[in-house]
Formats: sequence, C-alpha cells, structure tokens
Amino acid sequence: MCGIVAYIGPKQAYPIIIKGLKRLEYRGYDSAGVALIDNDDLNIYKTKGKVSDLELATEGKNIEGNLGMGHTRWATHGEPNDRNAHPHLSQSGNLAVIHNGIIENYATIKEALEIRGHTFNSDTDTEVLIHLIEDIQENEQISIDEAVRIALNQVIGAYAIVILVKNEPAKLIAARKGSPLVVGIGQEEGEFFMASDATPIVEYTRDVTYLNDGEIAIVKDGKLSIKTIENIAKTPFIQKLEINLEEIEKGGYPHFMLKEIFEQPKSIHDSIRGRIDSTTGKIAMRSIQEYEDKLRNVKRLILIGCGTSWHAGLVGEYLFEEFARIPVEVEYASEFRYRNPVIFPDDLVIAISQSGETADTLAAIELAKEKGATVFGICNVVGSSIPRFSDAGAYTHAGPEIGVASTKAFTAQVSVLVIMALAVAQIRGTISQERLRLVLSELESIPALVEEALKTDEDIQKLAAIFKDSRNFLYLGRGVNFPVALEGALKLKEISYIHAEGYPAAEMKHGPIALIDEEMPVVVIAPKRGVYEKVMSNIQEVKARKGKIIAIVTQGDTKIRAMADHVIEIPDTDESLTPLLATIPLQLLSYYIAVLRGCNVDQPRNLAKSVTVE
Ligand code: G6P
Repeated sequence: MCGIVAYIGPKQAYPIIIKGLKRLEYRGYDSAGVALIDNDDLNIYKTKGKVSDLELATEGKNIEGNLGMGHTRWATHGEPNDRNAHPHLSQSGNLAVIHNGIIENYATIKEALEIRGHTFNSDTDTEVLIHLIEDIQENEQISIDEAVRIALNQVIGAYAIVILVKNEPAKLIAARKGSPLVVGIGQEEGEFFMASDATPIVEYTRDVTYLNDGEIAIVKDGKLSIKTIENIAKTPFIQKLEINLEEIEKGGYPHFMLKEIFEQPKSIHDSIRGRIDSTTGKIAMRSIQEYEDKLRNVKRLILIGCGTSWHAGLVGEYLFEEFARIPVEVEYASEFRYRNPVIFPDDLVIAISQSGETADTLAAIELAKEKGATVFGICNVVGSSIPRFSDAGAYTHAGPEIGVASTKAFTAQVSVLVIMALAVAQIRGTISQERLRLVLSELESIPALVEEALKTDEDIQKLAAIFKDSRNFLYLGRGVNFPVALEGALKLKEISYIHAEGYPAAEMKHGPIALIDEEMPVVVIAPKRGVYEKVMSNIQEVKARKGKIIAIVTQGDTKIRAMADHVIEIPDTDESLTPLLATIPLQLLSYYIAVLRGCNVDQPRNLAKSVTVE
C-alpha cells in the first residue's frame, strides 16, 4: 500500500526513482510523485494516475539531482488527485515527505497546528506529519533529525516515511513503524537507496538493511546511522539480497500474472525442495523440529490470513484435520484482532501472508503473542515483518509475486501447509508411514502435474471468449476444494470486475440456486476423489435450472463430461493435493476473461498487493 523509493549518491536520482516506482506500482497506483534536490532547488512533480503519467508530467522539466525520492499512492485519506499526491511539503517548504501508512491522530494534530497558523494544501494525514515536524523543529530550535524523532513519538498509526531537507542537500531521513522500509547500501561511496521493498534496489546493490519498527535511518554526509525513536543508536544489520533481476521482470510474458501462473511448476518445486523425501518418509522443516514437543501436544491451531492467504488457510484446515487430527480454526485476521478471541497459551497460531506485511495479519500476530500463543509465519517475502515477528515458520520460496492478484503464492502456501500438516501428523503419530510416503511422493510429482494442468491454456482461452460478457459467475466445490471455489471466484472478481461467488456445492441450494438461469456460468470443481458422487448431484441441480456448467474434472472422467457444458481436465492426484491442480485452470480463466474485457490485469482498480493499512 503506497510504494516509496529514495536515492542519494553520485548518480542521477530521477531515473532510479522512476524505475523503482514502476517496480513498486503493485503497491498502489492512484497517483505518483517525485521530489528532487538540484543545488538549492527542491523540485516536486506529482500527478493523479500512474508512474507513466508522472513521466509525462515531468517532460521538459528540470529532473536533475543526485538526491530525490518518489511515491506511488494507494489512497487512504483524501481522494486520488494531484493535490493529495505525495510528496507533501512543510509550511515553509523546506521539508518534503513521502509516506506509506496512516497517521491515525492526524485530525487532532492538524487542528492544533491550524490554531498555530499552519495552512494545508491537501486532505492527507501525511501533510500534517511534515508540518508537525517543522513546527517542533522551529519551536524548540533543534535539528531536523531530532524534530523527526520527537514528532514520531507523538503520532499514532503506521508509517514508512522518507524526508528530504531543502537546505541540507546531503541528507535523507527515513523511519518506519508498521510499514516496511529497506535501506540499500550502494557500491559507490556515499550511495544509499531506500524503498518499500528490495525490488527497486536489487539491480544496484545486494547489501541491504531492513529497518525495524520504531527505527530512524539518517544518511548524512555519505554515512548511514540508525537510531530508535527513543534515541538509542543501533548498528545496522547488513544482509545480502537473494532475489534476482529476472524474477522481477516480465520475461516475455504480456503480464506478470500470466508469468506467475506459468511459473508454478517451479515455484511449487522451490517450496518443497529439500523439505521432503518420499523414499525415507523424512520431512525437514526447521520450525517443526524446533517445536516438536509443543506440536506433539498442541490442542488447537488457529490459521489467520487475509484474501488469498485466508483461502490457503482454509485448505490448511482440511489438511491439518485430515492428517494431524488437530482441531483447526481459520480466521480473517481483521476479524480475529477485534473480536476479543479466546486464545490459550498452548494454541499454535499460523499466520499466512504472501507479503509478510499485511497490517491486519501483523496485528493479529501481536494479539496472539500477547495472549501467550506460539506463532508460526508462512510468508513469501524474505525479511518482511511477519517472519520477523513470528516465533518460527517457513518461507514459501515462490519468488517475487508482482501481479496484484495472487497466484503462485497461493499454491506455494498450500504446498508448505501440506508439508507442515504431514510433519505434525508424523510427530503425533496420526498418519501411517505408508500413507505419509504416498502423499509425499504425490507431492513430489505435483510440479510436473501442474505443468500438465497448464496445457489447458488453449481450451481455457476458448472458454474465456464464450463467457467474457457474463455478469455473474458461481464457483462450487466441496471439501478441500471449497476454498478453491472461493479462490476462483476471488480471482475473477479481482481482475475482470465480474461478480462471482464461491460456495460449498451443497450449500448452493440454500440461496445461490435462486440466481441460476441460462445466463449463469457455474464452475464446478469435481475431481474424481472425495465426494465425487455428491458433486454430480449438485451439477444435476444446476442443470435442471439451465445453468451453464464448466466442470474441472480428473483426466479421463466420463460421467461429468456427459452432463457438463464444458469440461477442463486436470491430472489425478491424492485428494488432499487436488487444490494445487484445480486452481490452475481457474487462474487462467480469470486471466483470459480479464484480458478479453480489456482490464488491467496486473493492476486491477482499487486493489493493492501489500495492504499495510487496516
Ligand atoms: C491483498 C492482495 C491479495 C492478498 C491479500 C493478503 O488483498 O491483493 O492478493 O491475498 O492482500 O495479502 P498477504 O500479503 O498477507 O498474503
């Protein structure tokens, strides 16, 4: 939610910032802006719209400068227009700020500042923060660094900020609480980068330090120093970036989403690699080994997440109950955190998140930890906040996911959940060695089977052409494939703006059946395993009302083929793993429908990939 990038060093800042903003655009694309210091001038350009609109707005303007910062916005306070676009200036114009997050007490601070003569040019909470900093600095006659520190002690909310000081052109100040910020240490003397994630930095340097909550980074006269908002100096912990440039580029695909869908054989392979061995039945996952005693006796699991990650949690519920025989609750992080939930110290909470930065999921973790529960994180982005705040966990290793609609992160999360559930089952003795080896060996084959499922691509393009103008879609699934129905519906509505609902197939008759007529496509996930016969009855119920059936079936299926209007075949596998295959055609279907409808697939309207506000 909002992307920020900044540069100080010997190079020209503008091209680095623009390129960086394009990489961060998945975080929001309501407006974009840049601030550059060229000698004594502070030049700010900003506009409603995308980074490409910002480029147009800067044509013919002075974009010189070795120090600058840029912002791409996902609007929270104030509509997406030019005046609310970042950067924002202080009262005198000496300070400029970019911000990702929300200053919750901005209204009270604004009122107090207005009484003191401050005037504001936007409706944002961000502008209030920079005015406050300047007000403190002028009143108390202190350095800007110190004023930033004092101001941050007065604000409530979440932020990652970068500040430029017009009359101190060798300085950059950044701080974080709740929203991510990474500092890159450039290869040249006095060269530093700051950004919401490492993607704008990786082509210049691999040395980075992730700011912790409540830390302020100051680059001054070519040196980086870090202190806390309590004024305690910190030694930066420098680590090496592991991502590659190719991973964050489209690599010949028209959209990141399509690239990421087709990457799934590899991303699933990477998420299981080194963790399982079907011949010996061995599972190696450090967090599980470290917490073996706890897991042996754990009474309940609570899986939390948002969006697609919550859907992975629902698959996880099935897996843990099936294999490890542990009661599981799956919670939306946003509901869990505000509901005074009953949490026991012997509960294990598993937080699932692609970005590792989702504000509600982070807050839910905090709550669970306060109540004494152990927290595991399943995250994709290495070094992000959730893994750092969790007691233990596992990375999904799916590689950077840039398309706003999550695809490969979901299948990687499910793969990791399968491994965790089997490992816990092994510890608790709830699975036979034979079954364990069988599921492990099927899991080892999944990357190849996903490859096979991707061959449905051409058939799905044809289907997309038939159904692209539908106004509603219903997705039905049962058991472990009910969450897949939810995920299929979510994908379609996110990127094509067609209304879609996911439902447990049998629940259909308690409501959605009223919507079914000859106009209604109904996607039914009906692999041969599980409650196959029951799903067939549900298909009949839809047919009787003239609904159009698109069935996802196991290769070679004849019974459903005879009933359905369209069938898409996926390879056979163990029932517990069918979500990993059934998801693939649903992702492709939403993708092609969205493309045919002329939608911006990678940047769907109003959405952002990393939701760092609650
Ligand atoms: C946003 C994204 C979704 C994602 C959800 C949770 O809504 O658009 O794709 O599933 O956030 O994000 P997380 O990073 O926690 O998985």
